[in-house]
Amino acid sequence: MLPPIPALADYGISPTHGFLPEVLPLTRLPDPYYNKWEAITANLQALILSKRLRGVVDRLPVLSTIGLEHDAEWRRAYSLLSFMAHGYIWGGDSPSDRLPPAIAVPLLKVSQHLEVLPVATYAALCLWNFKPLFVDEDIDNLENLATLNTFTGSLDESWFYLVSVAMEARGAPIIPLMLTAVAAARQNDAPTVTRCLTTFAERLDDLTNLLQRMHESCDPTIFYNRIRPFLAGSKNMAEAGLPNGVVYEDGSSDEPYRQYSGGSNAQSSLIQFFDVVLGIEHRPTGEKRGESEREGRTQAPKHNFIMEMRRYMPGPHARFLGDVQAVANIRDFVEDNRTARPLCLAYDACLSMLRALRDKHIAIVTRYIVLPSREVRARSRSRSPEATRRKLNLATASRQPQGIAYDVRGAVAAQQQQKQAEKIKGTGGTALISFLKQARDETGEPAVEEWTRRFMSRQVRTEGQGDFFAGKPEEGAGLPVEEVEVTGLAGIWTIDDDVGGICNY
Ligand code: HEM
Repeated sequence: MLPPIPALADYGISPTHGFLPEVLPLTRLPDPYYNKWEAITANLQALILSKRLRGVVDRLPVLSTIGLEHDAEWRRAYSLLSFMAHGYIWGGDSPSDRLPPAIAVPLLKVSQHLEVLPVATYAALCLWNFKPLFVDEDIDNLENLATLNTFTGSLDESWFYLVSVAMEARGAPIIPLMLTAVAAARQNDAPTVTRCLTTFAERLDDLTNLLQRMHESCDPTIFYNRIRPFLAGSKNMAEAGLPNGVVYEDGSSDEPYRQYSGGSNAQSSLIQFFDVVLGIEHRPTGEKRGESEREGRTQAPKHNFIMEMRRYMPGPHARFLGDVQAVANIRDFVEDNRTARPLCLAYDACLSMLRALRDKHIAIVTRYIVLPSREVRARSRSRSPEATRRKLNLATASRQPQGIAYDVRGAVAAQQQQKQAEKIKGTGGTALISFLKQARDETGEPAVEEWTRRFMSRQVRTEGQGDFFAGKPEEGAGLPVEEVEVTGLAGIWTIDDDVGGICNY
């Protein structure tokens, strides 16, 4: 007996909106009991700017979750509390390693209810944080979207979230479509599978075009220095001032330090759905094709970042991916029908389009993270420590030259922190661009047609060099080549100079 094909309704997934909620996110909690949460998030930027957020939150009463009724209310509460939490932690001269009860207690309750982790995940920042400008227009159109909450109030931050929202909405119909394809493959119905795959490939192209629009209204410098620091989690954050993580003050006798990754699009269930349904396998970072079989391993022992990110998805969405994995048959079906050219071509087209999307994404990461991190390092070398000592967070942490501590709380604390940082270093250590390139290359591996395989495994220096947005080769010239750590969004990575100056992939 084959396992049943998952029904979207069982996982709270919408046939039209996909992983975005079927009911649009609430713009405010209906119960006036929560007015204080609403007022704080409505004024978040001003409170952060004036450095008054912590004081306000410290005086806030601990509100119960009893007034939350429908799922949409719980989701709004989660998003509000996540923004408040990250604003509280990162919105001062140095980060706070304690989250006061007024945030910690309800955040833990709401997260448990929604089966999400109590941090600003992709769900808090994107999936449950948008509204259409005109309700009668589609939400897969960037011109019809606005954010509900931001840390900075900048258009750049809104745009950063909204590109993802539009991609989720545009990609949503692929989910039921590909479940139809799975059912058709069970019936040996090649024409239907082919039709589904062709539509899938076309949509993927739309998604890449949407991704590319990131450049229109999100400035890399603002993203790197202003937005990214608020997205940071509490894991591997020693250099940014959180050597142990964050204590959630929930009033229990045991309040351990908690460590969570920050919010990242790597927590998008949509992209992982594409991989799963197409039978694309992502090996642990650094592992080459066939390596695990040769070594006779059944369980991947190395760090598999992509799988780890499933923990940061809403529970039902992560379960859905696992259940789709159990029924994913398209790759086998295509391999068993190699003589059906249109089927094979349609399958390979999907792989090729998804690979192209990852290619564009690598160019974005280069422009938004790799290049600014180099600029910041170059600048910090030419500046006095006093000039950069004002603030400690993710942006300033990357500026920290070897041997100079930036802890504003004094030399002793700084030394301890530095020691901790050194210890924690190395738990990351995976090269960012290598990781992304591996994920991209794995996308092409299942290709069936000989020419597609050749085309996708070619080693050319294409993307980036000719990519207007990724910058000119001269931009990185003159900077010393060295291995440095950089915090991506959810992960800590090394900047690998195998990107050879700039965008050499
Ligand atoms: C300014 C825009 C963006 C930046 C700077 C960025 C940066 C990153 C970084 C640093 C990673 C590595 C993991 C981590 O540290 O979190 C990553 C992974 C990832 N990002 Fe983005 N990202 C951006 C936009 C997007 C968008 C709009 C999508 C939506 C498709 C996306 C999808 C992914 C996926 C799926 C991964 C996991 C790796 C993979 O599956 O290839 N990113 N991104």
